Amino acid sequence: MNSRELLSEQLQGQPFLKNTTNPSVKKLFLESYGCQMNFSDSEIVASILQNEGYSTTAEASHADLILVNTCAIRDNAEQRVRQRLQDYKKIKSQSSKPVLIGVLGCMAERLKKKFLEEEQLVDVVVGPDAYRDLPQLLQQAESGQQAINVMLSREETYADIAPVRLDPNGVSAFISIMRGCDNMCSFCVVPFTRGRERSRDPESIINECRSAYENGYREVTLLGQNVDSYKCINGADTINFSDLLDRLATQLPQLWIRFSTSHPKDMTDAVLKVMAQHHNICKYIHLPVQSGSNSVLQKMNRGYTREWYLNRIQSIKTWMPDCAVSTDIITGFCEESDSDHQQTLDLMKEVGFDYAYMFMYSERPKTLAERKFKDDVSPLVKNQRLQEIISLQRNTSKLQLEKYRNTVQEVLIEGDSKKSASHWMGRNSQNAVVIFPKHSESKGDRVRVKIDASTFTSLFGNRVL
Ligand code: 5AD
Ligand code: SF4
Repeated sequence: MNSRELLSEQLQGQPFLKNTTNPSVKKLFLESYGCQMNFSDSEIVASILQNEGYSTTAEASHADLILVNTCAIRDNAEQRVRQRLQDYKKIKSQSSKPVLIGVLGCMAERLKKKFLEEEQLVDVVVGPDAYRDLPQLLQQAESGQQAINVMLSREETYADIAPVRLDPNGVSAFISIMRGCDNMCSFCVVPFTRGRERSRDPESIINECRSAYENGYREVTLLGQNVDSYKCINGADTINFSDLLDRLATQLPQLWIRFSTSHPKDMTDAVLKVMAQHHNICKYIHLPVQSGSNSVLQKMNRGYTREWYLNRIQSIKTWMPDCAVSTDIITGFCEESDSDHQQTLDLMKEVGFDYAYMFMYSERPKTLAERKFKDDVSPLVKNQRLQEIISLQRNTSKLQLEKYRNTVQEVLIEGDSKKSASHWMGRNSQNAVVIFPKHSESKGDRVRVKIDASTFTSLFGNRVL
């Protein structure tokens, strides 16, 4: 499980409204899987249903409506969701009141009517661009009709819907700046489940960030499948991602700004320059490489070469020597040879990533790779290669964290350390986790911490004034 999936585990079933004692109010249980974009979408869904008078519950067995926001990126993500849906079907059959089950998000989009017909697991199926239709679909399902809307849109950005923040930490907010993806990486199902790329207008983004700050949030993460292709045309004015970052950082100087995901083929020096100019834009870039082999990259349709990627890393280090870089890597993509794999290991050594999310290739229906190439690397070899890159990355992450020893880091406090209520957990600009003893600070404060020790995953130290 990667850390984004871990985040989804931690947030599952979080209540988003005050539980009400009024038994006539309908109760919603909402669970999210997958990427941060899905969490951001769940906050839109929560907002739409709040307006319909729903209150939430953290107990699926108390709910009138159970919604699961799903991920289709790998087969194992889908299998987990199916298992959960079986559990909810059981709860529904044992409940004394009528219960509706709905599936949202990427699996809904991928499997469409199958959920209602062949599998009969759920009552409502709603794709990522159809959440405004939820109230009407729920009414339809209540009256016993099949309720499905999986229409994708070229325009929908939910720009006017103020999300109900579900993340209980109250310090970091995720804000979608665009939806969909036009890249068609050959392994990826996202262009099929989330549709065409579209950018949200900058004013609504800036307003949402401002409102988050006014409500106590101290950090935002701007979300998009490929933030570097953000583009909003406003009359004669074209605003690209570097312009958006510049405006945000200037207008909200006290807010820390992060973003994800950057695409190596589109990441410009203009973005790096703006990052370097603003202290409040965090010095951390998630730049998925996927493979270190040019022939694999070409089959993946990634639109860049190993050399291009290394040049982008060079540029990052030139503009911001202290910038952390993380990546995504897939092992065992179609026809990947030992030598291709070796090139991935070599690239990892050359770059020295601070962190990596690593996956075995999972063939997805309808993708270019499924249609064109053979999924011919055995599961055993995929896994061996995965273990090798995990072990290399573990050592690299450890070395990267050691660099912070004896330095003073500015840390945004996110909350209690998981292991000790007498310690804080926060992150520095480079996104490294920092643990230190509590004194008089509060959650959401930014403090200076002298780092004394590090492990594979965290830094430890003490506050300095
Ligand atoms: N199999 C394995 N990993 C995948 N990813 C996307 N599609 C697949 C797939 N079919 C990974 C990529 C991407 C991350 C979000 O998930 O590394 O960057
Ligand atoms: Fe998928 Fe590629 Fe788009 Fe990322 S950029 S969502 S990997 S198609």
